[in-house]
Amino acid sequence: MYKIELGKSGLQVPAVAVGCMRISNMSEKEVSDFINTALENDANFFDHADIYGGGKSEKVFGDAVSPSMRENILIQTKCGIRQGRFDFSYEHIINSVNGSLERLGTDYIDILLLHRPDALMEPEEVAKAFDELKAAGKVRHFGVSNQNPYQMQLLQSCLDMPLCVNQLQFSVMHTPMIQSGINVNMYNDSATNRDGGILDFCRLNKITIQPWSPMQYGFFEGCFIDNEKFPELNKTLGDIADKYGVSKTTIAFAWILRHPAKMQPVTGTTNLTRLTDCIKANEINLTREEWYEIYRSAGNILP
Ligand SMILES: NC(=O)c1ccc[n+]([C@@H]2O[C@H](COP(=O)([O-])OP(=O)(O)OC[C@H]3O[C@@H](n4cnc5c(N)ncnc54)[C@H](OP(=O)(O)O)[C@@H]3O)[C@@H](O)[C@H]2O)c1
Repeated sequence: MYKIELGKSGLQVPAVAVGCMRISNMSEKEVSDFINTALENDANFFDHADIYGGGKSEKVFGDAVSPSMRENILIQTKCGIRQGRFDFSYEHIINSVNGSLERLGTDYIDILLLHRPDALMEPEEVAKAFDELKAAGKVRHFGVSNQNPYQMQLLQSCLDMPLCVNQLQFSVMHTPMIQSGINVNMYNDSATNRDGGILDFCRLNKITIQPWSPMQYGFFEGCFIDNEKFPELNKTLGDIADKYGVSKTTIAFAWILRHPAKMQPVTGTTNLTRLTDCIKANEINLTREEWYEIYRSAGNILP
């Protein structure tokens, strides 16, 4: 699998990251097969959060990773979402990381992300927590999720280390950050800038965008592949998949990878065949015509 540099971290990471949000109810053997399938396909970057499965996702993952495997894998986790509130306080960040380290059975986290913007964020307080975690060797790199450019700039203004990542919802069926850039200054709904121009901001500042829910439409409403709600999209994905001799899942993933921002999409599947199909997308380089055809088939308009 080809690699990209994660933001300005200097860290080389695989083009496709493996999401662990849905693994909490898998058996020990299933988790082990899941991790091994990813590793056999060069996908050694795993995405977690303290809240996935109420902490169980990190625990079953940590139980399956032996100490000898640890240095060959990259673990990213997140903090900041609590029941009924968001919390970027110093105490919560420190406590959350300590809990993740314990559940994951490791001494360090490769990348820590702040999960969702906390309206009450004090950037100096976050900086204090990040400094301590880095100095203690508990966290190596930092980033955010679901933030707009000004939120990132505000936080970055107090940090000594670069924010390397912004994890954002993005799939062929969830494209506001592309639509607004195509429909600049138009009166249609696609012209609405919902994210403050985060795509270009991240490109300008060398911050890696990690698309989450790459196969979903809406907010966890379901997968769009083989979904009768999206006949045109499935027809186009199917035709292009036949041409390359791969699955529609691979093409939907390749559509994300084709964007020059060099995004690192995060898979969500727990199915080993689909996991392999997602990873295989790094071998496909869609043409400009194919990319736009898929974009239009998802119901998007061009001005
Ligand atoms: N930062 C954030 O706020 C945030 C939010 C959500 C998620 N995430 C991260 O992003 C990762 C991915 O999110 P996600 O799980 O929503 O990703 P996703 O890949 O869009 O969705 C996965 C779900 O769709 C199903 N699915 C995927 N491909 C399919 C196909 N070809 N046919 C039928 N069903 C298919 C999967 O079922 P099977 O398992 O049966 O394949 C699974 O239930 C998570 O694991 C997590 O690490 C981050």
